[in-house]
Amino acid sequence: MSAIHSIESSIHVDHRDITHPQLYCKVSDGEHLCRAGADTVDLWIADLDSSIDQACISEAEYEASRRFHFPKDQQRSRNTRALTRLILSKYLNRSPEVLEFKRNDCGKPYLEGQDNRLRFNLSHGGGKLCIAVAWDCDLGVDLEVRRPIDDASDLVDRFFHPNEATRFRRLPKHLQLESFLRTWTAKEALLKATGIGLNADLSFSELTTYPLSPLRLLNVDPEWGHPQNWTLICPQVAPDLFLSLAVPRPVEGLKIFKVDGI
Ligand SMILES: CC(C)(COP(=O)(O)OP(=O)(O)OC[C@H]1O[C@@H](n2cnc3c(N)ncnc32)[C@H](O)[C@@H]1OP(=O)(O)O)[C@@H](O)C(=O)NCCC(=O)NCCS
Repeated sequence: MSAIHSIESSIHVDHRDITHPQLYCKVSDGEHLCRAGADTVDLWIADLDSSIDQACISEAEYEASRRFHFPKDQQRSRNTRALTRLILSKYLNRSPEVLEFKRNDCGKPYLEGQDNRLRFNLSHGGGKLCIAVAWDCDLGVDLEVRRPIDDASDLVDRFFHPNEATRFRRLPKHLQLESFLRTWTAKEALLKATGIGLNADLSFSELTTYPLSPLRLLNVDPEWGHPQNWTLICPQVAPDLFLSLAVPRPVEGLKIFKVDGI
């Protein structure tokens, strides 16, 4: 099976429930799929348990997948590497196996050398993968599958801005899980866009309190610019999937592609 064909033939663009519809561009029939423009971002959503051609992954990537105990997790790890290569190679018009990846000091992967203008970030969880792709601009993406979180209050105290934590505690209990998962993915996406990961402190970002208001960035560490220059999008691509995309600049178009449908 050719994975590329599998991707192309199964692309399905979801027009529903885009949180910021004005940011969403319809992909018209016949449009070249990977012509992401200067101010647009593409989001690819994939099921990691589907059958993907893994021939393009490197030996090191194959070896790394073996650190997982369960075969299912090994398979997901290899599918993550294969899909990343297959998708990015479509933008670069290069063979997926020749792409070279590096990681920054905090673990964020990027493309080496001549391909470096193409930026991406990925998130995986619950058997799903999301890859965000843009030219010339770093970006961050995070996904979480809806599940009970027993220690949400502790995590809020540890990782949220003090103002966010105060407002979170005032929320009715039945709204707290939804609020937590949406806010968490948004804050992770913001951190992942900067690439600093765990090194950020609590005041790095302050968001509005979802669902009392739409999720918006109120404050961000001045080192990362003015909050209004950031784009934060939380599209509802599947009922129990919380997904956030953060880009440190205005974004004019967002396209969402589903690989093998979810
Ligand atoms: C590294 C980190 C970003 C990974 O996030 P996660 O939710 O555990 O896992 P995800 O699936 O979303 O993302 C993992 C992917 O992010 C990418 N990544 C790793 N380090 C990264 C970094 N510093 N910046 C951006 N992306 C990173 C990698 O591609 C990784 O997948 P891979 O190792 O298979 O290539 C996370 O551990 C982290 O540092 N989070 C910040 C913690 C925190 O303060 N959270 C508070 C939010 S309120």
